[in-house]
Amino acid sequence: KELVFSGVQPTGNLHLGNYLGAIKRFVAMQAQFDCLYCVVDLHAITVWQDPAELTRQIREVTAAFLAAGIDPARSVVFNQSQVPQHAELAWIFNCVARLGWLNRMTQFKEKAGKDRENASVGLYDYPVLMAADILAYRATHVPVGEDQKQHLELTRDIAQKFNNDFAGAIAAQGHGEAFFPITEPLIGGPAARVMSLRDGTKKMSKSDPSDYSRINLTDDSDGIATKVRKAKTDAEPLPSEIAGLEKRPEADNLVGIFAALNDVSREDVLREYGGAQFSAFKGALVDLAVAKLGPIGAEMKRLVADPGHIDAVLADGAARAEAIAAPNIAAVKDIVGFVRRR
Ligand code: AMP
Ligand code: TRP
Repeated sequence: KELVFSGVQPTGNLHLGNYLGAIKRFVAMQAQFDCLYCVVDLHAITVWQDPAELTRQIREVTAAFLAAGIDPARSVVFNQSQVPQHAELAWIFNCVARLGWLNRMTQFKEKAGKDRENASVGLYDYPVLMAADILAYRATHVPVGEDQKQHLELTRDIAQKFNNDFAGAIAAQGHGEAFFPITEPLIGGPAARVMSLRDGTKKMSKSDPSDYSRINLTDDSDGIATKVRKAKTDAEPLPSEIAGLEKRPEADNLVGIFAALNDVSREDVLREYGGAQFSAFKGALVDLAVAKLGPIGAEMKRLVADPGHIDAVLADGAARAEAIAAPNIAAVKDIVGFVRRR
């Protein structure tokens, strides 16, 4: 059975990259799949989070999901810490994953930086918890941005090794050849990797010290306009063919953003704007971005003003999520050979 799972960390500054690479695609998947969308608060605390701010951010990401068009009646919207099976399965996966696999994770190296001895153990273990998030539901499809590709490969490796290591018990307990699916990453489209507006070689990120590097979902139209107008570009007009975007990372990025916001391809954008100066193209991009993001930002503000409603959505989602995960984790415990209450 096909099932979609994805997660977003409640770590502040939800931006255009999060929207185009992830949340906008989450919305679209609802037409085709059963979906679970998780605010991954356990992942957030792998680096220090101020408690009051964390609470606020969990509600803000939830608000962004709803404002963007995720329907909590159809999809399961919840925060990770309310469903204990995530952490439980992560422990079992800790004993399946190999140190060598985690040592290859580039995101850990980036996030830990030079002072690796001082990084939390959780930051190192982050991708194992992510595998548990997905596989607790035996999800088959995971829409994410390009930066999560390596983590999804690890998820596939963990699923495969579990299926192999426990093949005997899995078959004996009537699950056939494999208990966990080998999850398909869904990465792609013109905005799988949205770049900084200040530097076309760096990805747009929540933690960039310059707020001009990103468009936040909560930016108002003036903010969006200023940031787009100040975005770094080169001096040439836009090319008419995709090949002309090579070695022009800033131009490529703005064309990709325009394409993704407008649900068209980069080719379509260049067909219309090839030969245009950036001043004209940026004007069109401001109008488009304001039209698409403005209503989402406004709806987010409206939703966060009523935390009671958000918390009720999360509670309902957590109960529905747990109803799916609990029998899966019970089966995992039987497969591993634990004795459990019946
Ligand atoms: P995070 O905020 O790290 O939890 O990311 C949430 C989702 O947004 C993940 O699917 C990421 O892959 C995606 N994402 C984050 N930054 C970008 C970006 N610059 N471009 C495209 N997708 C992104
Ligand atoms: N690691 C993801 C990110 O930073 C967030 C995440 C946690 C996730 N668990 C997940 C994404 C499971 C997809 C599926 O963007």
